[in-house]
Amino acid sequence: MDRPNLADAARRSVVPGEGESRTVPKVIYVGEAGDERAVDATVGESVMTTAVKNGVPGVIGECGGNASCATCHVWVREDFLPLVGTPNDTEEDLLDMGVADRREGSRLSCQIKMTEELDGLTVVVPADQY
Ligand code: FES
Repeated sequence: MDRPNLADAARRSVVPGEGESRTVPKVIYVGEAGDERAVDATVGESVMTTAVKNGVPGVIGECGGNASCATCHVWVREDFLPLVGTPNDTEEDLLDMGVADRREGSRLSCQIKMTEELDGLTVVVPADQY
């Protein structure tokens, strides 16, 4: 008989609805020193908005999510890259011009909308944004 994975169950928050359950996705924000902070997200809200609402250091969101300031830059962990998709042309341009340390995985967190499938999304916040 399979035993439940308690670590996985503890990581997820399940909100029972009327006859159904939903996963509340978490975003894990990592500082460059390796410190981690897991935050409950709302499906449909951006990774930037989730950070700002929860006071995550280094994610400012100065332009309010209009892809014009780059103060929400993060590095998405490699295993999540296929899930978050690729930047559009506007985001590409701003990443090229407005980010000091662009790497594979660089994204504007305002352009990543949370879904249940992104539960556990892990992003590193560059130290120069603190
Ligand atoms: Fe300004 Fe993301 S909040 S580019």
